[in-house]
Amino acid sequence: MPSVSIIYFSAQGHTHQLAEAVAEGAKSVAGTTVEMHRIVGSEIIEGRWKNPAVLAKLSSADAIIFGTPTYMGGYSAQLKAFIDAASEVWMKLGWKDKLAAAFTHSQGLSGDKLNTLASLWVNAMQHGMVWVGLGELVEGTAPEKVNCIGSYGGAMAQTDWGQEKINDGDRKTGVILGKRVAETAARWVKGK
Ligand SMILES: Cc1cc2nc3c(=O)[nH]c(=O)nc-3n(C[C@H](O)[C@H](O)[C@H](O)COP(=O)(O)O)c2cc1C
Repeated sequence: MPSVSIIYFSAQGHTHQLAEAVAEGAKSVAGTTVEMHRIVGSEIIEGRWKNPAVLAKLSSADAIIFGTPTYMGGYSAQLKAFIDAASEVWMKLGWKDKLAAAFTHSQGLSGDKLNTLASLWVNAMQHGMVWVGLGELVEGTAPEKVNCIGSYGGAMAQTDWGQEKINDGDRKTGVILGKRVAETAARWVKGK
């Protein structure tokens, strides 16, 4: 039975909505167990993220999906604190051969989100993980269309200033990413 873990940070809730869409997609694949963890500030003590129970759960997952808002063209400091803490796993290549994927949300249409996904890819490669991209074409550029931002390395979402709900196209894109990761994990587990 494949297991997918989603770890993410969200300050105002948009990345959280995207995370929920990714989880919905992963859960749609029969037999998949899905765990979600939203990083909160109180887990970061003197700059270091600490939550051994969550780290242990991640270590038993077949796939880890990373999510973050894009801040200053990269991932948020909160996700970075978690990523740095996970270097203790890297020392033993504890996540080697797990699947990895990522999603990000920003206010700008570009907002330099590609750099966020690329940085998360680099982190996954350092861990020896296997990257799963979106695998979906652009349905159109209107906000209700799938992959309207035109991202292939992972799911991207964008909302305007003051907009509470993420766009439907971005939500559907998140679902597609989660489903693809879970389907890939099912094949991955079967082939082990
Ligand atoms: C410190 C900071 C830096 C930001 N930098 C960017 C940026 O580089 N590009 C962009 O499009 N939006 C930027 N934003 C807007 C955020 O991407 C947006 O507030 C965030 O995605 C909202 O997600 P959340 O609701 O999950 O917190 C920034 C916001 C903050 C607070």
